[in-house]
Amino acid sequence: MKFFVDTAEVDAIAELNDLGMVDGVTTNPSLIMKSGRDIKEVTKEICDMVDGPVSAETVALDADGMIAEGRELAKIADNIAIKVPLTWAGLKACKVLTDEGRMVNVTLCFSANQALLAAKAGATFISPFIGRLDDLNIDGMELIAEIRAVYDNYDFGTEILAASIRSVNHMKEAALIGADVATAPPAVIKSMANHVMTDKGLDAFMKDWAKTGQKIL
Ligand code: E4P
Repeated sequence: MKFFVDTAEVDAIAELNDLGMVDGVTTNPSLIMKSGRDIKEVTKEICDMVDGPVSAETVALDADGMIAEGRELAKIADNIAIKVPLTWAGLKACKVLTDEGRMVNVTLCFSANQALLAAKAGATFISPFIGRLDDLNIDGMELIAEIRAVYDNYDFGTEILAASIRSVNHMKEAALIGADVATAPPAVIKSMANHVMTDKGLDAFMKDWAKTGQKIL
């Protein structure tokens, strides 16, 4: 499973990128707002740092507007994936932008039917929002499993990009189901390294090591 980082914070991306943990980045208008940066400036900085796709989201609500904004965002770098919402207008924009050879990430997906439409419109990525479904007491992971089954039934090439990931369990479940990509905040990716038994074991080893009085360096 590929890891995308869901943030517009350049320092956090750089830290994970240095470890080879970053296969791409996703941003959205809220994340750009949180960063306090200019969208084109910060997106360019991220694109220069990361080899994989960097999603930048359009904000127009009509197809022509999304297409125009998508073309403008695509000028930032070759690795831009244009993010459009899963509306009828977004699907139209997806088809046009995909036909132009651009990567398109269709976002705000909350049903398998929506994902089916996005695949038929040629989306590069579909972004089902797990956490926001969980917030409604609906199992977000079930949606990932449904989309996986639908796409596999018909060999769609659209990649399932599990989004709105809130926990390390989301990451594990997305990987078990076979999501192609998971996009998560840096803190969630870093938390995947944590285990209480690792901490406990390390503590015991350190105590025993101190008793030996030895040094390695
Ligand atoms: C995905 O591309 C979105 O940017 C993101 O995953 C949304 O996550 P949230 O529901 O935690 O805001």
